[in-house]
Amino acid sequence: MFEIPQITEGIYYVGVNDRAKAKFENVWPLYKGVSYNSYLIVDEKVVLIDTVDVCYSDIFFYKIDLILKGRPIDYLVVDHMEPDHSGSIGLLKQKYPDIKIIGNKKTFNMLNGYHGITENLVEVEEGMSIKIGKRELSFIMAPMVHWPEVMFTYEQHDKVLFSADAFGTFGALDGHILDKDMDIDKYWYEMERYYACIVGKFGPFVQKVFKKLQDNPIEIDYVCSTHGPVWTKAHFSEAMAVYDRLSKYEAYEGACIIFGSMYGHTEILADTIAQAIAKKGIKNVVVHSLTSSDPSDILRDVFRYKAIVLGAPTYCNNLFSPMEHIIHLIELREVKNRYLSLFGSCTWAIQSIKKMTALTEKLAWEKIGEPVEMKMAPTPEVLNKAAELGEQIAQKLIEDRK
Ligand SMILES: Cc1cc2nc3c(=O)[nH]c(=O)nc-3n(C[C@H](O)[C@H](O)[C@H](O)COP(=O)(O)O)c2cc1C
Ligand SMILES: [Fe+2]
Ligand SMILES: [Fe+2]
Repeated sequence: MFEIPQITEGIYYVGVNDRAKAKFENVWPLYKGVSYNSYLIVDEKVVLIDTVDVCYSDIFFYKIDLILKGRPIDYLVVDHMEPDHSGSIGLLKQKYPDIKIIGNKKTFNMLNGYHGITENLVEVEEGMSIKIGKRELSFIMAPMVHWPEVMFTYEQHDKVLFSADAFGTFGALDGHILDKDMDIDKYWYEMERYYACIVGKFGPFVQKVFKKLQDNPIEIDYVCSTHGPVWTKAHFSEAMAVYDRLSKYEAYEGACIIFGSMYGHTEILADTIAQAIAKKGIKNVVVHSLTSSDPSDILRDVFRYKAIVLGAPTYCNNLFSPMEHIIHLIELREVKNRYLSLFGSCTWAIQSIKKMTALTEKLAWEKIGEPVEMKMAPTPEVLNKAAELGEQIAQKLIEDRK
């Protein structure tokens, strides 16, 4: 029999899967789709937590209708105004004109801007609570855990934390909703890619809200994020550990070599450096071509590994532009505490190394070794220099084990 899944009795999962969108935010490829999670609490009052992307409003409202059978929704809680969650609010308001919308001051400014809604608003602040029957909702502000208006909503009776984008991941929900029922392993890569691309810049804010939760502990049995699995005690600590590591910019031992190459010569240096690092016993060595790797996968590995190695040709007296772009994406995310090594190529006058040096200055990463320069094709001397650079990188990583 068809049923709408429940997280606990009376808290329904009314989210949707998006397997049609090629790229999230029209930038980040969705290899296995994404879910927009929304939850309907049926108590003395009916409360909807967030909505879904407007493209999926039909199936979203259909699910809600099946549960409510004409009963109105009393409240919508808006934890996050980004349109992947707020997109259906305009239609929701048309369908339920008397619905009260719960949010904070910053939410309401955006609600007006996106949907022209200015009435029936219930403004909440940190720590305030609203009784909805046997359940009570309280609110934890989480500014910049993606956008300024983000807040978490806590439901005390069933111990459910609705955490907006926090603990979210790419990847549709293929049948299962709860982490404990599924093979969760397929989500870890996508969680790191989601974090690096979407939340990456806001590490200090993620840490701030973690500290708030630590200082004012609440009992949590379910963490309902807006994307991906609902976390239970089975795997929440692992999800938390991923978000904690990434938001502290902590790295694993390993090297991420990112290169651009038009005709393959610079790639030979990338491989030479990679082999030298590997030969010294470093297990995690990844090499990304800027042409074939997607920036989202590259960012994932920049967040993951300690030693970052950048190499690119000179192009029109400047830097091969895909390298400029990836440095910009890394810099935007203010990735901290990495090692940096460079290599570059040219045919007549080298510019790429100078440009990469200038572009990475703000990151203030510790430089390892001298940049390796190559004119045209590799010579034994250049290859030796590249191998030496790899050895120095490996040496530094090995010293860090102590
Ligand atoms: C469109 C284009 C522009 C280039 N501009 C320069 C340049 O301004 N200065 C220079 O020394 N080499 C220039 N080169 C040569 C490349 O830097 C050289 O081919 C490259 O470093 C070789 O590495 P690869 O085989 O990995 O592409 C240019 C090459 C191309 C195709
Ligand atoms: Fe978001
Ligand atoms: Fe989102």
